[in-house]
Amino acid sequence: MKYCKLGRTNFEVSTIGYGAWGIGGKQWLGGTDDESVAALRRAIELGVNLIDTALAYGDGHSEQLVGQVVRETGHKIYVATKVPPKNRIWPAKGAFQEVFPYSYIMASAEESLGNLGLETIDLLQLHVWSSEWVDQDDWRRAFEDLKRSGKARAVGISITEHDPDSALSAIRTGLIDAVQVIYNIFDQTPEKQLFPLTIQENVGVLARVPLDEGALGGHITESTTFPRGDFREFYFRGNRKKEVVQHVNTLLRDLGDFVSLPETALRFCLSNSAVSSVIPGMRTLRHAEMNSALSDMAPLSAATLAILKRHAWDRNYYC
Ligand SMILES: NC(=O)c1ccc[n+]([C@@H]2O[C@H](COP(=O)([O-])OP(=O)(O)OC[C@H]3O[C@@H](n4cnc5c(N)ncnc54)[C@H](OP(=O)(O)O)[C@@H]3O)[C@@H](O)[C@H]2O)c1
Repeated sequence: MKYCKLGRTNFEVSTIGYGAWGIGGKQWLGGTDDESVAALRRAIELGVNLIDTALAYGDGHSEQLVGQVVRETGHKIYVATKVPPKNRIWPAKGAFQEVFPYSYIMASAEESLGNLGLETIDLLQLHVWSSEWVDQDDWRRAFEDLKRSGKARAVGISITEHDPDSALSAIRTGLIDAVQVIYNIFDQTPEKQLFPLTIQENVGVLARVPLDEGALGGHITESTTFPRGDFREFYFRGNRKKEVVQHVNTLLRDLGDFVSLPETALRFCLSNSAVSSVIPGMRTLRHAEMNSALSDMAPLSAATLAILKRHAWDRNYYC
């Protein structure tokens, strides 16, 4: 496992991290807590030391599982979690005071600490963001106070889906230690403005949804079904599975034979030096093992990256 400094923090984080949305259940169905805990323990055994969770993932259930595993581990594991919008609307919507008032941010951090059973949150992120909020005092004050009290060691923003530039002004304030952004073969937009700025400002980057919620896992067919109520039923609804299959087939044809799609997708993210850690969701032992092993591989060749550049796909399945 390779490690990398998370921006201006002194955290040496694994370049493959653990995305813990799926293990919260509720929106990701079909797994069990035993499988999730086993996958998380295995990822840690293989060197993963960064876990990204959120209070909203299964209403605290993901944080509780993460806390259980982190507390039993004998060495440092960096835990990133998130303050959900008070109005529970994703993506960001509403006046700032309806979303992140000071007292709410502070109370949410306490609730996360309770779920995790830890004294401190290594990275506390706002779970939605709007550039219109950059001058608001509450989030700045809350972040400063949480850091001063030691309840959060670093702070950040989880950027709105497919809108990386919405975080540029927040990064320029100097108050943000890390951002979390969708970055994958289909959405390469962070490369244009976000990544150059994070490098310039020494801000850490967590690359989220590196497998496009499973589209780049290589198993989606036109007849794939998901458990009723699973988030992916919505994400891949209507003719979207057909679109995914068409895009994936064209991509695989361009890449040539014997290429593993999930491996290429994760190595694509690892190949960009702006990325501190790539955080795939991986609820199974098999995926935890496959993904953790990729950290040690060389970056993709310039020729492969040039092919992948042509496969950027402008669309938003979260709406
Ligand atoms: N707004 C936000 O802040 C936000 C939004 C979304 C995600 N996130 C964070 O980003 C993390 C990653 O995103 P995500 O989990 O939504 O999506 P993702 O990582 O793009 O995809 C996860 C899916 O890929 C599958 N998978 C994992 N490894 C695989 C492999 N080697 N081969 C084939 N399939 C594989 C997983 O299967 P199994 O799980 O069944 O193993 C799961 O179905 C989340 O867990 C969360 O921490 C944050």
